[in-house]
Amino acid sequence: MEIKAFLFDLDGVLVDTAKYHYLAWRKLASQLGFEFNEEQNERLKGVSRMASLEILLEVGGIHVSEQEKQHMAEVKNNWYVQLISSMTPDEILPGVPEFLNKTRQAGLKTAICSASKNTPVILERTGLGKWFDVVVDGNRTSRAKPDPEVFLLAASDLHLSASECVVFEDAEAGVEAALRGNMRCIGIGSEEILSKANKVVPNLKNMDPLDVLKAIQNNHEKINSF
Ligand code: BG6
Ligand code: MG
Repeated sequence: MEIKAFLFDLDGVLVDTAKYHYLAWRKLASQLGFEFNEEQNERLKGVSRMASLEILLEVGGIHVSEQEKQHMAEVKNNWYVQLISSMTPDEILPGVPEFLNKTRQAGLKTAICSASKNTPVILERTGLGKWFDVVVDGNRTSRAKPDPEVFLLAASDLHLSASECVVFEDAEAGVEAALRGNMRCIGIGSEEILSKANKVVPNLKNMDPLDVLKAIQNNHEKINSF
């Protein structure tokens, strides 16, 4: 099947907002009286705000009412929004603008597929929006990754089938969502964490979309060549 679109996760793939999410969750944990480390934070990547809070509370062994959970999520989000409100285009990750330019020059469609309800602010602050045909974010989805909903909605917006799309993801839950949605997936980050992806690369620096296409079209299981 010919590949016609690249679908990109936002946090951790195109911009380094993962660090701001971590800072805000760690501050909440600290106020609740426990430490929250980067390894534990890995489980929060890609999953929705409320699902992230559930994991954080489980790590801290804390039980609270639904109402208190809503309040905690709001407090965390307010800190996070404060952190991202001063973002600039400089916070776009290395190699991303070049990769997106080449992707569009190659005639591929592009979509943002993010769990974040703060996607519009991030796109506006960084100027990333101009590269995308479609944006699907946490304001439009009801099921968090690893459910494939966000990717399937993007494919549907683009009038494409799942097998015509390739997903770029930095989170384990996101890789699983892509595969469950019957899409090929390039993991961005650590091979150890993203081992289920068809191919893992450290970042998009010096990557050529045409090499991604070639590798995907020549391999149906794991992609070994780039
Ligand atoms: C994802 C992040 O993109 O968005 C998660 O990887 C985050 O860490 C989720 O929890 C929801 O984001 P927000 O901005 O709606 O709280
Ligand atoms: Mg991510």
